[in-house]
Amino acid sequence: MKKIAVVTSGGDAPGMNAAIRAIVRKSIYHGLDVYGIKRGYLGMINQEIECLRLGSVADIIHRGGTILRTARSPEFLTMEGREKAFAFLKGERIDGLVIIGGDGSFRGAKVLEDAGFSTIGVPGTIDNDIPFTDYSIGFDTAVNTVADAINKVRDTATSHERIYVIEVMGRSSGYIALQAGLAGGAETIIVPEAPFDLTEVCNRLMRGVKRGKLHSVILVAEGAASAFSVAEEIQKCVQMEVRVTILGHLQRGGTPTAFDRVLASRLGAKAVDLLLEGKKGCTVGFWKGEIIATPYDEIFSHTKEFSWDDYKTASILAI
Ligand code: F6P
Repeated sequence: MKKIAVVTSGGDAPGMNAAIRAIVRKSIYHGLDVYGIKRGYLGMINQEIECLRLGSVADIIHRGGTILRTARSPEFLTMEGREKAFAFLKGERIDGLVIIGGDGSFRGAKVLEDAGFSTIGVPGTIDNDIPFTDYSIGFDTAVNTVADAINKVRDTATSHERIYVIEVMGRSSGYIALQAGLAGGAETIIVPEAPFDLTEVCNRLMRGVKRGKLHSVILVAEGAASAFSVAEEIQKCVQMEVRVTILGHLQRGGTPTAFDRVLASRLGAKAVDLLLEGKKGCTVGFWKGEIIATPYDEIFSHTKEFSWDDYKTASILAI
């Protein structure tokens, strides 16, 4: 193992820069040459590569986004695109690749692995939908961003005595909604993992109104329903004003929390260790208090377990 490359792919996540820094510095510490490939798999096809030195990753640990840029690359799904990427990596004599991203990025990594390259995946996605890691890089920051947004919306909800339906990201995972809803004291949390009944949501709101509750916050994960359709249904059964806030991509930006920076530093450093040990074809994760490696096939054949205990707690506390 002499030359490794790092790449960020798919949706960016706060803390990716801290992971790049860890990979670069740990590699240099071990005497490896380390390169950054720009714009994910698209950069492999378009041959965008740069040598990374200690200074290349200075002053980035606290920055959101990714200095390597990122992309979703439909071209890499074609044989032609893949052949170009394989030829580029062979030509550059890359011995090992670290791919920071989510599920789609790891599927791309498996394609490279099957073509004979050594790859390690580092989970970086705000969705926290990767199995065999309790947290993916960026999730904690996104949850804090949403919790902060709930605080702000709550102020205006209280002043106007309104109901707010807030839609959060997460693709088909309800993790952001669940954790931010718990942290922000949302009255109802709607997630794709759990069946929901809007009549019951309305009944619950009405019970609150009867008890003198003058405002409410309902958190909806994008994978469960659209906030506008939820708001429309609620408006039919309550007399109060209902408003919608869609938080969108602001959940992907911002300064990574200390938790995400520490997680990214640990996972990035471990990815380099694994390559040096000759391991490949797996992701790193923080699982039950330990940094572990899990083969891609295991990742693809499992769905991240939903935290039902937290879900139950949230609905009990939000009465
Ligand atoms: O996977 C991260 C994520 O932010 C999801 O939560 C969301 O559904 C999706 O990416 C949005 O993708 P894009 O940035 O391509 O619109």
